[in-house]
Amino acid sequence: MPSTIKKIFSNRKNKETSRNKPALAMGSRRFCLTLLLCSCLSPTAYGEGLQVLHWWKSASERQAVNVLVSKLAEEEVTWLDGVIPSGSGVGASIVLRSRILAGDAPEVAQLNGVLISEWDKLGLLLNIDAAGNNGKWEKLLFPTVLTLVRPHGHFVAAPLGIHRVNTLFYNRLLFTRYGLVPPRTWAEFDHVATKLKRHGILPLAQSSEPWQVMSLFETLVLSEGGAPFYRDLFVNKTASAFADERLGKALQHLRYLKKWMAAPVLERPWNAVTAELAGGNAGMMVMGDWAKGELNAWGHVTDEGFGCTAVPETAKYHLYDIDTLVMLATQKSFRTAQEKLAKVTMSGKVQADYNQLKGSIPVLRNPDLGKMDSCSLASWKLFASGAQAQVPSLAHRMAADEVTKDAMIAEVHHYFLDDRLSVAQTQRRLGVIARTTARIK
Ligand code: BGC
Repeated sequence: MPSTIKKIFSNRKNKETSRNKPALAMGSRRFCLTLLLCSCLSPTAYGEGLQVLHWWKSASERQAVNVLVSKLAEEEVTWLDGVIPSGSGVGASIVLRSRILAGDAPEVAQLNGVLISEWDKLGLLLNIDAAGNNGKWEKLLFPTVLTLVRPHGHFVAAPLGIHRVNTLFYNRLLFTRYGLVPPRTWAEFDHVATKLKRHGILPLAQSSEPWQVMSLFETLVLSEGGAPFYRDLFVNKTASAFADERLGKALQHLRYLKKWMAAPVLERPWNAVTAELAGGNAGMMVMGDWAKGELNAWGHVTDEGFGCTAVPETAKYHLYDIDTLVMLATQKSFRTAQEKLAKVTMSGKVQADYNQLKGSIPVLRNPDLGKMDSCSLASWKLFASGAQAQVPSLAHRMAADEVTKDAMIAEVHHYFLDDRLSVAQTQRRLGVIARTTARIK
């Protein structure tokens, strides 16, 4: 590990104070006992305690986390919850970086996408080859996931699940009542939206939170230009792609879709948007399938209260977002517990239970298909069909580094909010971001 990085981890003052914070609430009696023990005893008295920094706060996210907590407790390791609630981890990422710089890194963090490889190069992540090699992860994982968690020949991240971002949710009761069919093309989408509007229903639930605008926009880029164009733009950052008329059309489409959204489009958390669909105020919503987990957690059964399908004209693509935990290379005394957590994430049962609650699909080539509903099964089959179907989400950190992602999100968000900004101007600005960030690298 570089010496500067070693220093970063050396300041562990106040550690015990934060380590004694209680873990999250959980249904099982066993976990209540764990909580009780945590609040009275030092963490080491009940096995080892690991601080886990993450951003899962909604009902389904907590349920999914609880699967990990209880499985970890069986290994005599306590999950010390460090939740920083923030859709798509915007706030959690800032806190994580600040804590590392302050020399107070947590033992475990939710760290997704391109950052894994970058932080591995910096020597920040613990090598978890013991868990990965003994668990034969190489054989079990989808190749794309394997590359993500083993970027430079060593395992440095523990994979949890794969979300599909290009998911169109629709309220089934409204669709049945008004005789509507889930749209496969944008022309069909307009037709459905017109009918919904005529019946006084908001056609498309949407938030103006920057990452949610980008999540919608990247699906439009995919539908407009397909995977090769999407990769040229967001992965390869090819200069000519930013001047391409397909990018212009995707931007125009984003603005056009405002016609079907509430005016103004308020900045709301993703689960508030999901509630609008669930309550029948809105007919459709474009959202990653974590919304499915949430709808299920609220008692809405897949294919009964709601349905999901691909965003129009993106059916052959899986715009993916993979959730992963990394173990930070902190004190050696945490190693065994950190390795236990890594092992837990890949247990077949945890993969099935966690992903069923979370709305995502297992990272495994041969998972238990029995627990999957129709949305998950379709997602898993498409992802399993191979690399040509898999497209990395920019909004969710899979395609580009943080600087590029944040700058592009800000630009698209600005364009979305301010109708005076022209398409050409926005294309130019996005192109400048691509050029400058390419130079930084
Ligand atoms: C994460 C999901 C999370 C969602 C909403 C995504 O970036 O991968 O796990 O549920 O954001 O916060």
